[in-house]
Amino acid sequence: MTFAPRPIVGHLPHWARDPLGLLEHNAGRAEGVFELRLGVNAFVGHSPAWNRFVLGDLERFGSRHSFSKWVPYLAGGVILTDAPQHKVRRAELNPGFHPHALEHLRAVIGTALEPVLPTGSFDARDWAARVSLTALNASFFEGDFDPILLEDFLHPLHRAFPAPLLPRPRLFKRVDAELRRLLEARAAQPRHDLLSYLRRFDNPLEEARVSLAAGYDTTAHTLSWAAWHVAQQPRWTQDLGSAVKETLRLYPPGFVGSRRALETSSFEGRRIPKGSIVLYSPYLTHRSPAYFANPLEWTPERFESHPEAWTYLPFGAGERTCVGMHLANLVIGVALEGLFAQPVRAVRGDPAPRPGLTLAPRGALILERS
Ligand code: HEM
Repeated sequence: MTFAPRPIVGHLPHWARDPLGLLEHNAGRAEGVFELRLGVNAFVGHSPAWNRFVLGDLERFGSRHSFSKWVPYLAGGVILTDAPQHKVRRAELNPGFHPHALEHLRAVIGTALEPVLPTGSFDARDWAARVSLTALNASFFEGDFDPILLEDFLHPLHRAFPAPLLPRPRLFKRVDAELRRLLEARAAQPRHDLLSYLRRFDNPLEEARVSLAAGYDTTAHTLSWAAWHVAQQPRWTQDLGSAVKETLRLYPPGFVGSRRALETSSFEGRRIPKGSIVLYSPYLTHRSPAYFANPLEWTPERFESHPEAWTYLPFGAGERTCVGMHLANLVIGVALEGLFAQPVRAVRGDPAPRPGLTLAPRGALILERS
């Protein structure tokens, strides 16, 4: 397979067809940072020093004009807020998503997931998608959001390109109307859910929308992979925390993250001009033998020791670290505990990652639960 840039369109056709192949091919050839022509010039690296360079300085690298801007689902709220306002917004958002603030949701999510528990043989991907929808509905809205509308809204995120990138003004309008209805109910009587927390912001609709979109398929895909691997190595039911960490290492749903250079800078002697896109890739870093021994093997015991700084970043790193990290871990933990309360056996599947907006399992992951 050749990944050479083509006249005019550069690397775009390769990016559209096989972004993981393109990234791996170039990372294997270049020692440090490499350049891709993706409509604009994009600089890509995966060393801990690069990750720190890109993620550690919000004044130099902004999110507002990054690739997120082109994804209607993610184009808004805190995701498109840059320094210095970003710090203020995160300081307001973080307390609502802190593990202490979420603890009461453990029981709420557990109860909501009971009807979703499978018996017999099932595809872990379908189960995990149902879990993610149900748990988001329970934690943000106490289950009050119209479940069919929520599924219609989030389903395109699972689909191949260009589906997640298409504007869907009518659907978004319906979602906003539903959010408005739920906000009004909470104005009359506050609840103990995340929408009640988001009411304090000037743009609660937008923050809720981008959080649902950022949290849905990422959580679902991680959960389906974790269930698949734990079913094959059931001793990890005793340490689901390490199993989930390892799953996020091998299959980081956010396989690449983007920023826009707000000023010209240089990294290890390489000039990064103002206006360029810069990409970091948890996928490349996590699968590099320089940072993880036998990187393609699923071996949760590696988390008995801490990974080197800036080498493990499934939730990003620095000030933009995922707001929903603790919520995702809570949902995944509760769902796996419920699932593995009965013996589960892996029947057949293809867990290789398939890139879309996020990484997803390529094929069905058939499990059997007694
Ligand atoms: C396993 C599940 C999840 C994964 C792997 C994940 C991954 C990530 C990553 C890599 C970033 C950083 C992106 C960047 O550097 O630009 C991020 C940011 C974000 N995530 Fe998550 N996420 C998950 C679940 C969630 C959930 C459940 C929510 C719901 C609240 C959420 C909301 C967000 C938001 C709002 C941001 C933007 C933060 C900012 O720009 O300050 N995520 N996530």
